[in-house]
Amino acid sequence: MLIDRYSRTIDYLRISVTDRCDLRCTYCMPKGFTEFEKPKHWLSFTEIERVVRQFAAMGTHHFRLTGGEPLLRKNIVELVERLKSIEGVHELSLSTNATQLEHYAHDLKRAGLDRINVSLDSLTRQGVAKITGFDAKDKVLAGLAAAKDAGFKHIKINMVPMQGINENEIDAVVKFCMQNHFILRLIELMPMGATAQNHQYINLQPIITRLSQELDLIPSARQYGKGPAQYWENAEGTFSMGYITPMSQHFCQSCNRVRLTVDGTLYMCLGQEQKYPLAPLLKAEVDDHTLQQAIRNAINLKPLQHDFVEQPLKLIRIMSSTGG
Ligand code: 5AD
Ligand code: SF4
Repeated sequence: MLIDRYSRTIDYLRISVTDRCDLRCTYCMPKGFTEFEKPKHWLSFTEIERVVRQFAAMGTHHFRLTGGEPLLRKNIVELVERLKSIEGVHELSLSTNATQLEHYAHDLKRAGLDRINVSLDSLTRQGVAKITGFDAKDKVLAGLAAAKDAGFKHIKINMVPMQGINENEIDAVVKFCMQNHFILRLIELMPMGATAQNHQYINLQPIITRLSQELDLIPSARQYGKGPAQYWENAEGTFSMGYITPMSQHFCQSCNRVRLTVDGTLYMCLGQEQKYPLAPLLKAEVDDHTLQQAIRNAINLKPLQHDFVEQPLKLIRIMSSTGG
């Protein structure tokens, strides 16, 4: 088991397979951003596999592929298949913007992918274009339809409400998710790097109260994976939605995850700088014991919590470089 200095069990690894993306969400990448990792620094599938094998051997059974946009990584279906065949990998999921999902959904399902999360911050053509920088609405909806068709269950939709941008669309997205049996998660915007100046976050607490009353939702014990969302559901159990509140009520005390970036660095926290480079060890092909000790050393660096509220301008790293 991996246990950090604050007695938290770390049993969830998020793996960014690329820092590139075909969209430019305003809360994720600064305008005109071009400082992407060079391909020669990317971990190979074999190296990713090695890291996953060590984590699995140390008690981590849940893994998620993120980006940037993970479906942009060449042969991503093959990676899913390879990771799923590792002993101890019980659940493998994927966070995607869904622009390419229409083409990949069935193959990903066949390769053994367990679950999918999709970002969707607006349901209007103009709203999607304004937030993502592209007229992507139709492709995203086609991707979602394909995921359903491929047999994915409990598909999650992530929406980041932002003041003056999409706050008036929350109810429309709720309705859309109800109709389609998607699990909606509203996420409080975190100030990450240069994107921090782009928008004001919306405190979800009043929205939790309002929606629970209007939709007759009760707190749910369900978890749907390893995330920090608090879920609510209707009495019939036919609709669930969750709230992720890093700003108004952070959940760092129960944090269970670390993140691996495409260049082979383990990041201990989305909002702090503590990190540990695994790439040199992977390139040197050190033995499993050495790699596992390095991972334990990394976990020992994990900080208690982020300071997004106290020091909103502290973090230089943007979301797309760490992986969401
Ligand atoms: N704050 C909160 N959520 C973010 N995401 C990306 N950037 C931010 C941010 N600054 C979310 C997106 C996506 C998920 C991977 O991360 O909504 O769904
Ligand atoms: Fe791409 Fe996701 Fe970042 Fe949007 S949030 S720019 S879809 S990586």
